[in-house]
Amino acid sequence: MAGRLAGKTAIITGGAGGCGAAAARLFVREGAKLGIIDRDPARGQALADELGAEFAAADVADGAQVEAAVAKLIKANGPANVLFNHAGTIIIKPFLECTEAEWDWLMAVNVKSMFLVTKAVLPGMIASGGGSIVCTASISANAATPLEVIYNTTKAACLMFARSIAVEFRDRGIRCNAVSPGFIATPHGLSEVKQLQALGVDASAEAIAVQQGRMCEPEEVAQAALFLSSDESSFVSGTELRVDNCFTAV
Ligand SMILES: NC(=O)c1ccc[n+]([C@@H]2O[C@H](COP(=O)([O-])OP(=O)(O)OC[C@H]3O[C@@H](n4cnc5c(N)ncnc54)[C@H](O)[C@@H]3O)[C@@H](O)[C@H]2O)c1
Repeated sequence: MAGRLAGKTAIITGGAGGCGAAAARLFVREGAKLGIIDRDPARGQALADELGAEFAAADVADGAQVEAAVAKLIKANGPANVLFNHAGTIIIKPFLECTEAEWDWLMAVNVKSMFLVTKAVLPGMIASGGGSIVCTASISANAATPLEVIYNTTKAACLMFARSIAVEFRDRGIRCNAVSPGFIATPHGLSEVKQLQALGVDASAEAIAVQQGRMCEPEEVAQAALFLSSDESSFVSGTELRVDNCFTAV
């Protein structure tokens, strides 16, 4: 049977670990030709070798590095018609202790990265007949999770970025959507839970069970990204798929 991404060429940022790696495995299994961009060359190259994919190292917050990485992947695989803008990170701190440098850094890694990568990928995507972009936002784009003012602000920006790209490029064959996961059992999510607990926020297993039943698995986010990347979601654009098991439904 043909895979759900048969004939597609995909790029995943943050594809060396966590949900990005889960999506890399799933996308290849579903027939995509894949390029991974990540700042971790050892894990990124190893996963690409395992999957028969291409890898390009880049800090997604750096314009020159992003341009070079996207150019390398396009040269190897051709233009992408699927882009999963997933790379991102977090700062957990009382607001008054956050510095200007931290604000600038997190905005760059989480938000400017989407601008840079999308800008580098879109022209080829449009010229080759269109495609689908998926941007990772978060429950934190909707719920003001505690001690995460900068992070929450970046994730709300990612959500609006996805909607705005969708509107501007709809009539050029581009769809763009956001996925908004709850707490995921990745290095990011597990360290977030630990840091929140250390700062006195109840992020115990019991509290998370009340909010979202249990921790989300990276493969569950990958499945949502697969749906939005595939032609199965051909009339879905400018929206947000919450992968949070009711965290934000109450
Ligand atoms: N884990 C959670 O609980 C959770 C919940 C909601 C949203 N998210 C979002 O998911 C993404 C994080 O993914 P994860 O949970 O799979 O985490 P993760 O930390 O396991 O993986 C993140 C990957 O992104 C890469 N990366 C980080 N910064 C980068 C940069 N500047 N340039 C290039 N690559 C970079 C890392 O090397 C790593 O491979 C973020 O966008 C985050 O906001 C995570």
